[in-house]
Amino acid sequence: MKTLVYAHRGASKLAPENTMPAFQLAYEMGAEGIETDVQLSRDGIPVLIHDESVRRTTNAVGFVQDYTFEQLQKLDAGSWLSEKFENTPIISLEEFLIWAQSKQLQLNIELKNNVIDYENMEKKVYDLLCKYKVVNRTTISSFNPVSIERFKQIDRKIATALLTSQRINGLVDYTAGLGAKALHIKYRLLNSKVVAQCREMDMKLRIYTINRAGAMKKCYQLQVDAIFTDVPDKAIEQRKLF
Ligand code: G3P
Ligand code: CA
Repeated sequence: MKTLVYAHRGASKLAPENTMPAFQLAYEMGAEGIETDVQLSRDGIPVLIHDESVRRTTNAVGFVQDYTFEQLQKLDAGSWLSEKFENTPIISLEEFLIWAQSKQLQLNIELKNNVIDYENMEKKVYDLLCKYKVVNRTTISSFNPVSIERFKQIDRKIATALLTSQRINGLVDYTAGLGAKALHIKYRLLNSKVVAQCREMDMKLRIYTINRAGAMKKCYQLQVDAIFTDVPDKAIEQRKLF
């Protein structure tokens, strides 16, 4: 079984995370999937940015939820990585889906609602997935189990995934109980037992964030379903050895 390579926030080692250059680069490198993070702007637009605050990845400060989308679009989300990316904008989920719609890519939309429980986020995201007809190749993930349950109430068939970095007893059963079809775990939780448990439950197992060759090797040997990586070109190259 081939382990799929998902570009984590796009090809985020070489281009600013969660921006169009990072997604485009990941696509050109041959990643099979793209992972991205969603927060809501003040006017309720799903936007792609990892942190609740704009400080780390833009030239401004404050919370994403305190800016309108129009204001967020004017921020420079590229210079923090390299001046080559100066004035790269934050984009909306809708802009991302317009780009992804015509490409053969698996999508993983992570709802960043575990710190701020954004009102109606699930429905806003779902409506966009339907509008651009990508529901059947999208997995919705969240560290917030309540959000996964909410998504299931909107569409019980959509693929959802629980994200965790915690060692929890009965994790695979718990995830199945939420109705999730996949478990996305931090690398340190990966072992042959969790792989076997997921297989038995017919649950996809995807691992984050895998940037070192040694960790890639372990994921490929254990034949996990996918890895999330900031360096999709390296992950694809390493995979040829298996
Ligand atoms: O979806 C996998 C991974 O992205 C989860 O952690 O903090 O990088 O969003 P984080
Ligand atoms: Ca993420």
